[in-house]
Amino acid sequence: MKKLRRQVAASDRDFPLSPDGSAAELNVESVSYRWPNGTLALDQCCLQIPHPGLWMLVGSNGSGKSTLFRLITGLLEPQSGSIRTNHRVALVFQNPDHQLLLPSCGSDLLLGMTPQADPHAPGHRIEKLLGDLGLSGMASRPIHTLSGGQKQRLAIAGALASEAGLLLLDEPTALLDPSSQRNVLESVQKLCRSTEQPLTALWITHRLEELDLADGAACMRDGRIDPWMTGSKLRDHLQCGRSGS
Ligand SMILES: Nc1ncnc2c1ncn2[C@@H]1O[C@H](COP(=O)(O)OP(=O)(O)OP(=O)(O)O)[C@@H](O)[C@H]1O
Ligand SMILES: [Mg+2]
Repeated sequence: MKKLRRQVAASDRDFPLSPDGSAAELNVESVSYRWPNGTLALDQCCLQIPHPGLWMLVGSNGSGKSTLFRLITGLLEPQSGSIRTNHRVALVFQNPDHQLLLPSCGSDLLLGMTPQADPHAPGHRIEKLLGDLGLSGMASRPIHTLSGGQKQRLAIAGALASEAGLLLLDEPTALLDPSSQRNVLESVQKLCRSTEQPLTALWITHRLEELDLADGAACMRDGRIDPWMTGSKLRDHLQCGRSGS
């Protein structure tokens, strides 16, 4: 435990952390979780997101990334430790077909929207959400006519419809071709850099080239997360490891 705290502090210069986590976008403090079959998925895991932006997690299969997401969204309860955020949290999965429920883009977004005081406002809000994800004018488009990348961007718009401030994306580009992958990644990066209301996104990936767009990146192993570093530094580090193995 002491060792882990020291590791986190080692990144303070590049990624200054809040001493008690109260000023952080997300504070995961020493969380452990064991599945009923005995697998220890998270082992006193610590993670602090110091400010809005695009934050990425990499890690080998089974290192605990998706379990961590389920804990942050509240689908699972930590068995020890704590998770704090002041944001509404939304989750985006690898396959948008598992997330899009209604036949048209507009109706699907409406489903996820928080009720508004002004009954005429939903149309504006839908257009804003579609525009933010590069889907302007598509409110009445049937979902089955969208490309994979467009569907994923609609799924992200749907997640944001609930006014979530913390977006968790679990390998959102794994099923996409390189051009759609780039499009989805750049759309989320733009939302995270908004001067008006910057989003906080935590993005899981196995595609190392995506790390270059991250504001910070970290590696998860055996249920724990290493300190933040720049995305390009982590990419170099992992690529050296891969080519050397
Ligand atoms: N529902 C479950 N029941 C039992 N064990 C589980 C369950 N889900 C995950 N695990 C185990 O918990 C550990 C962490 O799994 P998790 O899915 O969080 O890893 P991951 O980092 O997301 O992996 P991947 O990169 O393959 O998606 C693994 O050993 C996995 O087998
Ligand atoms: Mg996973």
